[in-house]
Amino acid sequence: MVSYKELGLVNTREMFAKAVAGGYAIPAFNFNNMEQLQAIIQASAETKSPVILQVSKGARNYANQTLLRYMAEGAVEYAKELGWEHPQIVLHLDHGDSFELCKSCVDMGFSSVMIDASSKPYEENIALTKKVVEYAHQFDVTVEAELGVLAGVEDEVSAEESHYTKPEEVIDFATRTGCDSLAISIGTSHGAYKFTPEQCTRDPKTGRLVPPPLAFNVLHEIEKKLPGFPIVLHGSSSVPQEYVDIINEHGGKLPDAVGIPEEQLREASKSAVCKINIDSDSRLAMTAAIRKVFDEKPGEFDPRKYLGPARDEMKKLYMHKIVNVLGSDGKAL
Ligand code: G3H
Ligand code: 13P
Ligand code: ZN
Repeated sequence: MVSYKELGLVNTREMFAKAVAGGYAIPAFNFNNMEQLQAIIQASAETKSPVILQVSKGARNYANQTLLRYMAEGAVEYAKELGWEHPQIVLHLDHGDSFELCKSCVDMGFSSVMIDASSKPYEENIALTKKVVEYAHQFDVTVEAELGVLAGVEDEVSAEESHYTKPEEVIDFATRTGCDSLAISIGTSHGAYKFTPEQCTRDPKTGRLVPPPLAFNVLHEIEKKLPGFPIVLHGSSSVPQEYVDIINEHGGKLPDAVGIPEEQLREASKSAVCKINIDSDSRLAMTAAIRKVFDEKPGEFDPRKYLGPARDEMKKLYMHKIVNVLGSDGKAL
């Protein structure tokens, strides 16, 4: 049993309370490898933004859970080395799908876990979430739960259809489970294809898809039911079209990839939404940078020569999100 406190990590409780009161959101960036982690920490340290490092079940399988835990511990020290005196870094399990997985993360030093039982019937979601909360709270680890179903892929669970969170359920759910934050469904979805062309209109000038707006009415109703309660948005990548273009110009194939417009995420950050999950945008930044090097310098074979530019591009992206979209810069001085 390792406590996250010994590793210099923090849970989300205080961070979320401040974010809700201050009208900004904390970035939750997924990581699977060293370059991503370096870019996240460099961007957070430079902007003094609290940050959530997210590890999915897939990331645990890919990179090895023990290694990831030590990398997060290393990240705290790295942040200090970069001059961030009091780093506020959370190590969070993204889309945990069982009690055993959540427990194993709590036991190995995670400071926050998500139990995602949103695809299960309501009462089963409550029972499983409550069980995780009871275990995690003994160690002061915070728990995110989910109510409502996002379209697209939720780790290995794929949902054909999304169902917005029902505002009439949130008080009962939050009270009975004791969860610390709630992920809701208001029209975001995972991946680089959040909407089909049929769900969008097309900008006649650019030919780009324009997605339907998020259901802010549902968000506001939820806020009214649970005043000040921390709300989380998954599937919140914007799918920057400049990356999609670079990828497509250099041998990739991502036709009509479309995400959530950043103005809408900025708007959401001002509400009780205090955690915004971004993974796909970093994948796109990395892929665009690597494809460009491969195409323009076919003789290059030193991984540092393409992973380095990929890291720089991801750092630029993370800083942009922190400063211009979520507004979390300067909140962890
Ligand atoms: O919500 C899903 C995250 O983007 C993690 O994706 O399961 O492919 O690591 P992954
Ligand atoms: P994106 O696929 O939009 O980046 O969402 C990531 C996410 O929600 C991770 O849990
Ligand atoms: Zn997610």
